[in-house]
Amino acid sequence: MKVIEYIHEMKEASQALRAEGNKISFVPTMGYLHQGHLSLLKKGRDVGDLLVMSIFVNPAQFAKGEDFERYPRDFERDKKMCESESVDILFLPNAREIYPDGYQTYVEVEGVTKNLCGTSRPGHFRGVATVVTKLFNIVRPHYAIFGEKDFQQLVTIKRLALDLDMDVDVIGMPIVREADGLAMSSRNSYLGQEERAAAGSIYRAIQRSKEVFDEGERSAGILLNEARKVVEISPLIEPEYVKLVNMGTMEEVDRVENEALLAIAVRIGKTRLIDNIILRKA
Ligand code: PAF
Repeated sequence: MKVIEYIHEMKEASQALRAEGNKISFVPTMGYLHQGHLSLLKKGRDVGDLLVMSIFVNPAQFAKGEDFERYPRDFERDKKMCESESVDILFLPNAREIYPDGYQTYVEVEGVTKNLCGTSRPGHFRGVATVVTKLFNIVRPHYAIFGEKDFQQLVTIKRLALDLDMDVDVIGMPIVREADGLAMSSRNSYLGQEERAAAGSIYRAIQRSKEVFDEGERSAGILLNEARKVVEISPLIEPEYVKLVNMGTMEEVDRVENEALLAIAVRIGKTRLIDNIILRKA
């Protein structure tokens, strides 16, 4: 595995690989890898000839007071995992490389970033869209793979690639879960023992809505209420939002006719966790 820290080197490498006719798969991450990331790598290996992963904890997508400083980092462990997952190139730029002195260009995706996390984390998706645009320009992938846990992020990046005519196929992969259903996330490492036990009810809540949906309920009010009742049992969980949205626009819906996304964000102590489930007519 080749480790590249500089933009010009990464560009040269991808130009050479493209010139040889290789299809490049790219998995952008912020590191502290888990099984969810590994499923993205597996998909990347399946669809492309060469696998590039980036690890960059992107300051632009964290607001003041969020967890940028304490975001978990373990580059040595991540490097070993990448090696054992047959990553060909690990791109590991530092913040000065991505945002040098004088940096002043940002990318804003409008409609789909307004609701959900866009409301509770102003500026977050601007930071994501900016860094992903830069990474796509540097790595020039044919395929880019993202997890569906960050569903709104996935929709935002698909929109970005479409609107800016980027020649990249943005692929979403299903959420990978722990045994009790908790969606895998680097932030799960913040949870204390009791918090971790409570976190299992996030999945139970969204599953409850799905059960009621599968029994024929279509009203958003009722479906959301079923989920809220489950999370609200735990005094450690503070719901931030529980919403049913259109899968393409991320706008709220009153009823689910064919399909919708039930999205949830909660706080458990100082940790903010998100999850979602697709409600789709069989
Ligand atoms: O999902 C993430 O890890 C990040 O938001 C991403 C897409 C790598 C951009 O920093």
